[in-house]
Formats: sequence, structure tokens, C-alpha cells
Amino acid sequence: MQDKTFSFGRNWQRFLTAIDEERIRTAEASLTEFLGLDDLHGKSFVDIGCGSGLFSLAAVRLGAARVVSFDIDPFSVECCTHLRNREGDPQHWDVHQGSVLDEDFLSRLGRFDITYSWGVLHHTGRMWDAVRNSAELVVPGGYYYIAVYNKILSRNGEASWIHDFWIRVKKIYNSSPTIAAYVLEPLAMSAYVSMLIAKLENPVTHIRNYKSHRGMSWKTDATDWLGGYPYEFATVEEVFTFVRSEFPDFTLANLKVTSGRGLNWYLFRRA
Ligand SMILES: C[S@@+](CC[C@H](N)C(=O)[O-])C[C@H]1O[C@@H](n2cnc3c(N)ncnc32)[C@H](O)[C@@H]1O
Repeated sequence: MQDKTFSFGRNWQRFLTAIDEERIRTAEASLTEFLGLDDLHGKSFVDIGCGSGLFSLAAVRLGAARVVSFDIDPFSVECCTHLRNREGDPQHWDVHQGSVLDEDFLSRLGRFDITYSWGVLHHTGRMWDAVRNSAELVVPGGYYYIAVYNKILSRNGEASWIHDFWIRVKKIYNSSPTIAAYVLEPLAMSAYVSMLIAKLENPVTHIRNYKSHRGMSWKTDATDWLGGYPYEFATVEEVFTFVRSEFPDFTLANLKVTSGRGLNWYLFRRA
């Protein structure tokens, strides 16, 4: 069975036309609120695994002095380049193809006031190396803003069986575009809608209001979840302990946690 065929970038390309002013403003708010800043004036910002490029664009709009976006997937790079063109090709915004696991590439980028990597590090196949490499990019006094899939624990303290279940689903999804499009996607979408109905939520309103989730689209996020592989996860404690032991000069400045299979958001500040 083939393990890795999912292109995040192709999924982002389908999302690109939906990026309007409202989504950009929501993305801006998602950056400033979690960072606890009014804007990014004068700050350098690196967007690791930039995907569509929406958050790089938000950083530019928030006044960042330098924005560097990169992604391993050439289609994501195309999306981000497209947004950069749409914004009038700002000279202080660079877009590259590269990997957070490639230390040579990273060493050429410099260091940043804000290192942002949302929903990326757990898809690299070497999550802890990705955490270490990305954290290295933070300047003294800078911010490290990441989001990583939560590890759900079973009663015995081990990772819950649900993670193995999703790994299997993701492998099947990636092994056959036909099964993905005609079986898994409809199945997952109907399960999601049924869950909303069971919670007495109106699915139409929920999907219409989904853009309040960081300016994202429901369909893009659902496909991203089903196909996104490699897939790793960690408890808040594991991430906190790892970062603090590798980078004793980092302190946790903000945190948003989930009890489900979603993402935990972390903001560390370097002394
Ligand atoms: C779930 S998307 C998140 C996109 C974006 N950060 C956001 O918040 O919308 C994950 C992105 O990470 C990228 N990615 C995966 N492995 C990577 C790596 N080793 N280096 C850089 N980017 C990577 C994928 O191509 C994809 O665009």
C-alpha cells in the first residue's frame, strides 16, 4: 500500500478562490489574538508549511517588516506565490519551496521575531526534529507559535486506539483516489453532519460559519484531515517538556487545548 500521495498543496489550490477579505481579517485576528499583539509592525515572520499562504498574507497586512513563507509541497508554494502576486508582489515577502527538516535550507533563512507553524510539524514524518529545527529560528525575545495534533490517551495512559484507526483511514485514503473520493469523503462528511445534528446544531449554519475557524473552509479542512499523512500527535505535556528541555530559554506564553483529535496551540516566548 502506498503511504504518501496526499498533496496538501492541491487541496489548498481548491481553497484559493475562496480567500476573500473576510477570511484574511479572520486570519489576522487569529494571529494577533493568540500572540497578544495589536499588529506585527517592524517584526520578521516566518510561515513554516505556509499551505495556502493565507497567514503569510495576514502577516504582511499586519505590517510585518519581513515575511518568509515556505512549504515542501510545490502546489502550496504556487498558492502562496499567487497570493503574493495578488497583493502586488511586496518586496519584503519571500516565498520558497523547502522543508523544515532541511537544516541547510533553514540556515539560509536567518532568524525571526515570530516563527509560525500551524498544523505542519506533525505531518513531516519526524515531528520532534521539526519542532527542534523550527524553534531554532526564533530570535531572543521572539515568539514561537505552533499547533500540533493532540494525543488522546486511553485509561492506561497509552495513545488511544483512535489514532491507529485514523492512520489506517489515512493510508486507505492515500492508496486509492477512487476510494478517497467516492467512499471515504462522503462517509466522513455524513458522519460529521450526523454528529452536528446529534448535538442539535444546524449543519448548514455550522458550515456557513466555519470561516470563523481561522478563515478556513470546512471542505478543505475535512479533506486535509482525511488525507494528511504522515500523521503524528503529542500531549500538551510532551510538547511542553520537549521544548523546555531543548530550549530552556523558552517559556509558555499562551495555550489553547483540545480534548479531542484536533490541535493544541502553543505560544512560547524566548528570553
Ligand atoms: C495542514 S497544512 C497547514 C497549512 C498552514 N500552515 C495553515 O495553517 O493553514 C500543512 C502544510 O505543511 C506542509 N508540510 C508538510 N511537511 C512539510 C515539511 N517537511 N516542510 C515544510 N512544509 C511541510 C504541507 O505541504 C502543508 O501545506
